[in-house]
Amino acid sequence: MKSSKSFLLRKLEQDGLFDCKGYALELGFGNGEDTMALAQCGYQVDAVDNRQEFIEKLKSVVGEQKLSVNVFFQPMEEFKIEEGKYNLIFARNSLPFLKNKEAIFNLIKKLVRGLSLNGKICFTLFGPKDGWAGASNISFIEYDEVNRFLETLPIKLHYRSSEESYGKTMKGDTKFWHIHSFIYIKKT
Ligand SMILES: C[S@@+](CC[C@H](N)C(=O)[O-])C[C@H]1O[C@@H](n2cnc3c(N)ncnc32)[C@H](O)[C@@H]1O
Repeated sequence: MKSSKSFLLRKLEQDGLFDCKGYALELGFGNGEDTMALAQCGYQVDAVDNRQEFIEKLKSVVGEQKLSVNVFFQPMEEFKIEEGKYNLIFARNSLPFLKNKEAIFNLIKKLVRGLSLNGKICFTLFGPKDGWAGASNISFIEYDEVNRFLETLPIKLHYRSSEESYGKTMKGDTKFWHIHSFIYIKKT
């Protein structure tokens, strides 16, 4: 399993926010690339996914490389988050798989409570023009609506974008992506 860094991790690094200290949480780690990059740089990572195949794969790699990763086989919405624990929370292309917008917003609120002071939260959501739009098990949200919601939370905007382009899925297929990306920093 390779540990190439995703766009959001590279952005954190470029902006001097990837400090590799303390606890990190990744929700919906999939093939584990971001979890590996976080652990290899020095974070103690809690990694959550609800698919057994990804759990087994990540456990075997972190075991071989003796990385500090706790792997949790659990729905992310049920994962218990200790208040103020995490210096970094990461959820790339995973929150949209919650059942609806309310479930996503509730989990984001819970994640923000789990951040330490100056902790960073990085996540993506899918917009309504995404190629998967209409799928019953995925939620799509307008960019403006997410932005209005995020303004109500005790976090400071560091970076946000909404982009549309063709690109690869985790399985390697090509699809049209409409992705909103966010990096916020905990204020209080
Ligand atoms: C599109 S993949 C993204 C994987 C990885 N974060 C990436 O960007 O390559 C979505 C991941 O979220 C996981 N997932 C979806 N719903 C979940 C849930 N309710 N709880 C935990 N994991 C979930 C899937 O098993 C999958 O690994």
